[in-house]
Amino acid sequence: MNEVTVIGLGAMGGAIAQTLLEKGYQVTVWNRTATKADSIVEKGAVLTSTAAEAIRASQISIICVSDYKTSYEVLDVEDVHAALSGRVLIQLTTGSPEQAQKQEIWANTHGAAYIDGAIAAAPTQIGGSHATIFTSGSMEAFDQVKPVLGVLAGHVPYYGEQVSAAASIDLAFLSYLFGSYLGFFHASRILESDGLRIDDFGSMIAGVSPMIGSILQYEGEVIQHSKYENPQSSLQMSMVTVGLLMEQASEKSMNNEFPLFLQNMFHKAIEAGYGEQDIASLVKTMR
Ligand SMILES: NC(=O)c1ccc[n+]([C@@H]2O[C@H](COP(=O)([O-])OP(=O)(O)OC[C@H]3O[C@@H](n4cnc5c(N)ncnc54)[C@H](OP(=O)(O)O)[C@@H]3O)[C@@H](O)[C@H]2O)c1
Repeated sequence: MNEVTVIGLGAMGGAIAQTLLEKGYQVTVWNRTATKADSIVEKGAVLTSTAAEAIRASQISIICVSDYKTSYEVLDVEDVHAALSGRVLIQLTTGSPEQAQKQEIWANTHGAAYIDGAIAAAPTQIGGSHATIFTSGSMEAFDQVKPVLGVLAGHVPYYGEQVSAAASIDLAFLSYLFGSYLGFFHASRILESDGLRIDDFGSMIAGVSPMIGSILQYEGEVIQHSKYENPQSSLQMSMVTVGLLMEQASEKSMNNEFPLFLQNMFHKAIEAGYGEQDIASLVKTMR
């Protein structure tokens, strides 16, 4: 069984579809903006005109879109309900533990097995040994999808049938990552202030801390060469994640000073017009 469907061809979904194709999978795709499929269709993917048609083409479907609201907009329609029955849905859109719980119930109601996955990697890391995808949900479904996820990431830890687990671990990881981002951007200002190279500093960090470091190495090059356009992780997309950190802190009555600080920093950069640019454009509001 080497057919896989990918719904959503943004920076991350595009990298997923591309990697599966390169590893010999027969990939069917659907994206709201069909033209984003052009380059992978040239390499052999099949583009369908509806999400339902794409889901019918494979036993396993991956969805990776902006947020859960979008995922329901795409999936919560009659022909998709029918197509999902008897198949496995892997949700790789970033979400909260509660959203994962609700979506598992929703998927099961429509006869689909559900795996919640959370990607701890940048799009350029997909398919590589540093990429991790946290997973939870039905064990039987996990056994079916493990080979596919193993193609996308060097580490695919499975946290059991408590479906909220992957999202909780992901939010904890993202909190750590976003702290690293802000520390790195402030470090960039220190280096700039003395005319030193930010990309070389990024390479040094990648040497001492490979996984997070390779993300920061990329951001160092973005800042050094002012390459903020065509991002692999846009500010707007990252802001959705910051919103999830705020939501989770509120739901669990936790201290929210850190996510609030992140939210203020991100707001400032989005208000300055950098929403569609790379997350590193935050540094421009720190100058
Ligand atoms: N990029 C990263 O570094 C990264 C890392 C880890 C996890 N993730 C997660 O991966 C997910 C996708 O991120 P991304 O970077 O690929 O985002 P992106 O580049 O902004 O892509 C968003 C995707 O959602 C689709 N979409 C948005 N609104 C839609 C709507 N109303 N109806 C149908 N489709 C809609 C877009 O379709 P169009 O092409 O038609 O706009 C596109 O396929 C997010 O949950 C993100 O947190 C991303």
